[in-house]
Amino acid sequence: MKKLILFICLIQILNAQSINSPNNKLTFEFKLSAIGEPTYELKLGNESIILPSKLGFVIKDQPALDNNFIVTKTETSTTNETWEPVLGEVSRIKNNYNELKVYLNQKKEKDRNLILTFRLYDEGLGFRYEFPLQDNLKHFVVADELTEFNLTGDHKTWWTPGDFDTNEYFYQTSPISKIHVGNLRRAGEIFTSSPIGNNFVQTPVQFKTSKNIYINIFEAALVNYPAMCLEINNKTFSTKSSLAPDAVGNKAYLQTPAKTPWRVIFATTDAREIVASKLVLNLNEPSKIENTSWIKATKYIGIWWGMHVGTMSWNYSDVDNVSLKTTDWKSLKPNSTHGATTKRTKEYIDFAAKHGFDAVLVEGWNVGWEDWFGKWKENVFDFVTPYPDFDVEELQKYAKSKNVKMIMHHETSASVTNYERQLDTAFQFMKKFGYDAVKSGYVGKIIPRGEFHDGQWMINHYVHVAEKAAEYQIMINPHEPVRPTGLSRTYPNWLANEAARGNEFNAWSEGNPPEHETILSFTRFLGGAMDYTPGIFEIKMEFYKNGRNTQVHTTLAKQLALYVTIYSPLQMAADLPENYERYMDAFQFIKDVPVDWSDTKILEAEPGDYLTIARKDKKSANWFLGAITDENKRETLLQLNFLDADKKYTATIYKDADDADWEKNPKAYKIETKTVSSKDKINLKLAAGGGAAISFVVK
Ligand code: NOJ
Ligand code: CA
Repeated sequence: MKKLILFICLIQILNAQSINSPNNKLTFEFKLSAIGEPTYELKLGNESIILPSKLGFVIKDQPALDNNFIVTKTETSTTNETWEPVLGEVSRIKNNYNELKVYLNQKKEKDRNLILTFRLYDEGLGFRYEFPLQDNLKHFVVADELTEFNLTGDHKTWWTPGDFDTNEYFYQTSPISKIHVGNLRRAGEIFTSSPIGNNFVQTPVQFKTSKNIYINIFEAALVNYPAMCLEINNKTFSTKSSLAPDAVGNKAYLQTPAKTPWRVIFATTDAREIVASKLVLNLNEPSKIENTSWIKATKYIGIWWGMHVGTMSWNYSDVDNVSLKTTDWKSLKPNSTHGATTKRTKEYIDFAAKHGFDAVLVEGWNVGWEDWFGKWKENVFDFVTPYPDFDVEELQKYAKSKNVKMIMHHETSASVTNYERQLDTAFQFMKKFGYDAVKSGYVGKIIPRGEFHDGQWMINHYVHVAEKAAEYQIMINPHEPVRPTGLSRTYPNWLANEAARGNEFNAWSEGNPPEHETILSFTRFLGGAMDYTPGIFEIKMEFYKNGRNTQVHTTLAKQLALYVTIYSPLQMAADLPENYERYMDAFQFIKDVPVDWSDTKILEAEPGDYLTIARKDKKSANWFLGAITDENKRETLLQLNFLDADKKYTATIYKDADDADWEKNPKAYKIETKTVSSKDKINLKLAAGGGAAISFVVK
């Protein structure tokens, strides 16, 4: 009898396990319900963040892995270490968490095993499922993941519509009860084909409770598994994972041993902690690349914005339906607007050399652009055949003589099997002609048909490209990929991604509202750097007499601030060189601002409203500050106590002029200099839709 009581007690202890965060602010509890369902709960102090929420899977052609479990073993441990990212916002990252591992067995059904790993950090929780190698679960198909994140109330939410193909939306702000995708304009027909439903949102999604707790749900280390959206219940405020399917509706094909990405929940009363968090990076594996000396932070210009504002073309010729295989390109008459000419590229190389940029990107250099957009064709591009007016060899010599790198462009037109077939040849071509970075692109519906940008098949593709690129010592910057989930830690050559609505949208659509960049730091940027392409000085498109009345929703000073508020080791000065020539005093900030940092301080942050960040150059004791606001003007008094205490600095302040306004007077700016130290304060006035940038150079 005694033994039986002991056994029952043991089971109860095993069936409910809790851990705290290292600072004891967050508490986490795992429990098996009466019918053996795994559940978890998260609290911040006395406040519930996640109410008891279920975990599990529907497995195709097998019983579900959702109840009837017993706990066979639990393990707890603590990790407190630091590591050094190759490139980053800080030079050392603390990785400090308490871990609970729960070993589950589902005897009644088929004797199958599942392991749950929970890691509790000061600012949030990460957890993942592991399927150990076992006889009754060898090859299987995940039909659905049942992870719930049950929220406690009708929180304010910053969200974009659930979509398996694109993240190129601006954010909606509403209570959970009002999340309704309805007829929201999609990013453009070519991108999307995934009417998931009215109650689905992308992750990361940012919430704020009535008690001013900031919660964010996301994922980390997305490998060999589809990306996760959230299905929202407008009435109960419960949410559930929703995975991008493959062409026939299956979610993931797994083979044991296997593990899922981490599910991540941030929870804090200080909004700045979310922006500063390294939780997603910490949940990723350390670098798989041993020698990283060839991985370089890069500031670049490019033959690019001209195409977006319509003064240049990617196409060489205006003839339609000419194709890679069948056309004698030399016999075609070039149009007058082709951007990627040898002559123009040399001019851009000169400009880069003169102003200290590392590299020049050229788009529209290879044949195929006459035949791609919206056509959903295979084999449009081969990544090795330049147009007749682009002399790769000549440009290699020229760039080298000016000590400027060239950045390759691979628009795959989402013809992914074609890209994989060409990949070695394409990378060999790059190496032969001195390119060691590539911007790739996945515009359009994925070929083969039916796959999604965010499905398991594509997730494996992006990782494959990162690995293959590393073999060739090539750095990558995919556009239109899945949103990043911290894999830049494992593959530091994965410098940046697009995977959100970038500055380009301002050139040819209703654009990004002034609040956009304040929200990105709380959402998309949690997974890694973005190639946002800031630095637009000619803000109104009417300048180009291109029939457009669109504009960037910004002041000029705010474009400078974005180089600090947006972290990326790959930053573009996106405007045309001739536009910079007219504003050389303001351009100086873009020339000076580093792209790799030893320290970062998030000074002020509120999603949708404002953001102020200071960062310290990795190579010097200089600091740089960026402050941005939404459509409202803002005044702030900043303590400079982040500066090194023993130094004096020349502060150059690039700010909105008194009458600046994103809509009415966006280009009005002022530049001031003064000597400051860490004891000083600076008062900044940001215009509506404006910003300020400051360089602090050691005296
Ligand atoms: C979309 C990318 O975001 C953009 O930067 C690029 O210029 C076009 N695709 C063409 O590849
Ligand atoms: Ca894009």
